[in-house]
Amino acid sequence: MRETLIEALEARRSVPAAALSEPGPTPSELARLLTIAARVPDHAMLVPWRFIVIEGAARRALGALLAEAYRAGNPQMAPEKREKFAGIMSRLFPAPLAVVVVSRPNRETMIPVVEQELSAGAVCMNLLHGARALGFNGIWVTGWAANDAQALAHIGLAEGERVAGIVHIGTASEVPAERPRPDVAALTTRWSPPG
Ligand SMILES: Cc1cc2nc3c(=O)[nH]c(=O)nc-3n(C[C@H](O)[C@H](O)[C@H](O)COP(=O)(O)O)c2cc1C
Repeated sequence: MRETLIEALEARRSVPAAALSEPGPTPSELARLLTIAARVPDHAMLVPWRFIVIEGAARRALGALLAEAYRAGNPQMAPEKREKFAGIMSRLFPAPLAVVVVSRPNRETMIPVVEQELSAGAVCMNLLHGARALGFNGIWVTGWAANDAQALAHIGLAEGERVAGIVHIGTASEVPAERPRPDVAALTTRWSPPG
């Protein structure tokens, strides 16, 4: 039986992309997932984000372009090391599905850019929770590809856009052991009037 919402929230755990296998979401599950992802707080309803879906054969094709971008961007690196990392870049999309959440803040409005970026972060989080609710596992990453100009051009980002997250989604045979969690009490103070 699938966990309840509160159980899912209390036990949420990321699974490394390399440990996410088939099955991934069906086309109708993906549509549902993106609809859930778009249902986030959004000050002034600017929709300051969009999605790029990477799945199927596109994963390997984009991986090859990213590996090439890595080689081209690191001409000084020792060839062995460069090939090792280029190989890693060629396998950046091992899960059945990756959704790139693109932050595209509107700089013409009064709404601070940080608030718009936070909305994009909420999209990533909703994707993770939505994936879990549909029975999948996932992880939110960024990494080299989210910060390299050539890689970003291959992924399809435009001027003024940034990667808020690459959310990998699939099915994990096991979830990693729990990691230490913040001491919430130590992070919390209670405001009281001065004096
Ligand atoms: C904006 C953002 C970027 C992240 N990028 C990476 C990344 O590139 N690689 C990585 O291993 N984890 C990354 N993480 C951390 C993972 O998403 C995850 O939180 C971590 O593996 C701990 O697992 P947990 O979510 O179960 O606590 C990132 C998290 C955030 C919020």
